[in-house]
Amino acid sequence: MSFGPMPIANRFLLPEDFADEYFFELAPAFCDECTMVQLINQPAPDEMFNDDYAFFSGTSQHMTRHFQDFAELVCKRNLSGDDPFVVELGCNDGIMLQNFMAKGIRHLGVEPSGNVADVARKKGITVTSEFFSEDTAARIVEQHGHADAILAANVMCHIADISSVAAGVNVLLKDTGVLIFEDPYLGDVIKKTSYDQIYDEHVFVFSALSVSRAFEGCGLRLVDVMPQPTHGGSMRYVLAREGAQEPNAAVADLLDQERGMGLDKAGTFDQFRESCEKSRSNLMQVLNDLKAGGKRVVGYGATSKSTTVMNYCGITQDHIEFISDTTPIKQGKFTPGSHIPVKPHDAFKDNYPDYALLFAWNHKAEIMANEEAFAESGGKWINFVPDVSISS
Ligand code: SAH
Ligand code: TMP
Repeated sequence: MSFGPMPIANRFLLPEDFADEYFFELAPAFCDECTMVQLINQPAPDEMFNDDYAFFSGTSQHMTRHFQDFAELVCKRNLSGDDPFVVELGCNDGIMLQNFMAKGIRHLGVEPSGNVADVARKKGITVTSEFFSEDTAARIVEQHGHADAILAANVMCHIADISSVAAGVNVLLKDTGVLIFEDPYLGDVIKKTSYDQIYDEHVFVFSALSVSRAFEGCGLRLVDVMPQPTHGGSMRYVLAREGAQEPNAAVADLLDQERGMGLDKAGTFDQFRESCEKSRSNLMQVLNDLKAGGKRVVGYGATSKSTTVMNYCGITQDHIEFISDTTPIKQGKFTPGSHIPVKPHDAFKDNYPDYALLFAWNHKAEIMANEEAFAESGGKWINFVPDVSISS
């Protein structure tokens, strides 16, 4: 299936950049053999991850707490011995590693986007700015020794060369070590028609079926799975070296559930395409009706996911006046492809619109708690996941 021409999801622009904007075809495909859902084309990694990277993990309080809990669990279950060593791929601004640093645990972040890595460094976290690969892994072993735990959150699904990651993990991991990563989960994407999880950075949408196959060739076995409510429904995968740990019952249960849902069948993705088309026409119906009725509509959260929604559905500044976002680097710029202005939260709060289109639906609980005054002022939310609906 194709979502059409798409720009770089996190490349917010100034008007002088509009003419040269980069587009590629956003086309996910399902492989019958390896059960992987993946993009046919992906922009080069350094087009997406560089010193101007616009996503700062610490913008969400909920995610800050989530990573505190994640780190606690790793400390309890996976670190032992006198001097354990933890490596995190894609540590961003240090949202996870800050918890290991606070406990005095030896750690290293591998983070190619220099600007977010610098935020982590300012917190005192040790970071190397590069893309993780087998070579990086060998250098880390030379300098720091083998890792007890290699962690990755919302980054494994970003790396097209998964075999180089697997080879690197093989080099870096202790014999008894674990690779633990979490990413948006295919089961949730299918159930909720959350097609906005598909954008340039997300080259894969994983399931337990595809993850277990992707890593088995390099001797890593899926031994545990833990569903997470984050980012609209994620899955945490724990992998260990073949023979080091027996898979627990949750793995077999999830693999069965996935077969039951048809995540190993091409027909499931044909249905998904139809659901996406329906979601698009329902959302545009709502936006066009509001426009015809002269209502003010503002977007909430200039998420990377919203780039897919706006460009796939054809949302323009005729539909949405601006998008409110708390990330300073996005403010004063325009959204990729759709060129809608991004403004600070004050622009929303100081002059409530009639409707707010909830692009950051994955942070709904946090946002609803913070925005009670909007609903009290008569403001309404437009939702599009799992269905197009209006709520107050
Ligand atoms: N872990 C954080 C950040 C996720 S965003 C969180 O969950 O909030 C993905 C991060 O992965 C970005 O900061 C990006 O620069 C980094 N990244 C992308 N490709 C990478 C690679 N090959 N190796 C390590 N990090 C990578
Ligand atoms: P994400 O969906 O990729 O995590 O991005 C969330 C975006 O939404 C990010 O740019 C920050 C923004 N945001 C707000 O503007 N207000 C909020 O309350 C939250 C939680 C996020």
